[in-house]
Amino acid sequence: MNDGDNGAGGPLTLADYAELARRRLDPAVWDFVTGGAGDERTLADNTAAFDRVRLRPRVLSAVTRPALNTRILGRTWAAPLGVAPVAYHTLAHSDGEAATAAAAGAAGVPLVVSTFAGRAFHDIAAAGPAPLWLQLYCFRDRGVTRGLIERAADAGFEALVLTVDAPRLGRRLRDERNGFRLPPGIAPANLAGTGFSAPGEHAREAFDPALDWTVVEWLRTVSPLPVLLKGILTAADARLATESEVDGIIVSNHGGRQLDGAAATLDVLPEIAAQVAGRCPVLLDGGVRRGGDVLAALALGADAVLLGRPVLHGLAAAGRDGVADVLGIVTEELAEAMTLAGCPSVADAGPELVSGSAVPV
Ligand code: FNR
Repeated sequence: MNDGDNGAGGPLTLADYAELARRRLDPAVWDFVTGGAGDERTLADNTAAFDRVRLRPRVLSAVTRPALNTRILGRTWAAPLGVAPVAYHTLAHSDGEAATAAAAGAAGVPLVVSTFAGRAFHDIAAAGPAPLWLQLYCFRDRGVTRGLIERAADAGFEALVLTVDAPRLGRRLRDERNGFRLPPGIAPANLAGTGFSAPGEHAREAFDPALDWTVVEWLRTVSPLPVLLKGILTAADARLATESEVDGIIVSNHGGRQLDGAAATLDVLPEIAAQVAGRCPVLLDGGVRRGGDVLAALALGADAVLLGRPVLHGLAAAGRDGVADVLGIVTEELAEAMTLAGCPSVADAGPELVSGSAVPV
């Protein structure tokens, strides 16, 4: 796509899309999307961890068209990436999650829909064939959470992603300094009528801060859908998660928006992947900005990655087409990186592909 904003050729990278979005969005909305908790150390470290990785390419390996497809929870994804749950896509574009679902569907990759989606589950499901997963915050009133699950299941959603790193919301200082409030018309479309339709503080107070591992059993009593936990950062919790027989783990620090000072996700990925040892899929999000980053995550034990902010950047820049282009750019970069590294398929990406202190080679 070329909207004429970015020199003759239009945006070429996810960084170009970030710049387009920065110019398009209201500064306070930009800060809400971009920012992290506290001093944003974890936010910065997520991308820095990828910057530190160096690849060890194999040559003369006759990789002409690397196979990017991968199977996760019984579904084939066209590439080992998906869209992370991000609240209120309607802040970036009036079509919101419907545009994102259409682009993800065209790309053959899944979309994880936030509890705080700005569009109704059925509208999102109608927009495209993307596999849809529901991200859950667990409310004190379990009936609210159960209602969300039932409506999402009714709309054909295929899995539940419980976010476990948010007993309360981290302090996002940019938002506090900006006095950020959701603009008129932006609301959590799937919480209407629950008493939590007023966003912000109200919803924050509604989170259950006292969750423990029994919540996984509770989810199983409510729904037959697979359950993934998002926000695992240690091997110890990965072990408890597999003992709870979860269907997947998402290594995440919430894009640096929760515990500032928490480890970069790429740095803890090897210990978690080693602990899980193939018992369930391990996904990672946080700081993935290039196809080479996806390859590094695969090499260090991820089955797939999720992209958060870059998708909103594409949406802000050009709606559905912008999201499609963001997903296309990172997919093509991954194909290029795999070809140049001599890696024929997703399953072939192992630790010998990267050099770095944590990695045995
Ligand atoms: C998020 N994230 C998030 N996570 C979640 O479980 N539920 C949510 O509603 C949201 N909302 C949300 C809003 C915004 C504006 C951002 C930037 C992030 C976290 C998200 O799922 C993911 O963990 C990070 O965004 C991944 O990091 P990157 O790709 O943004 O670096």
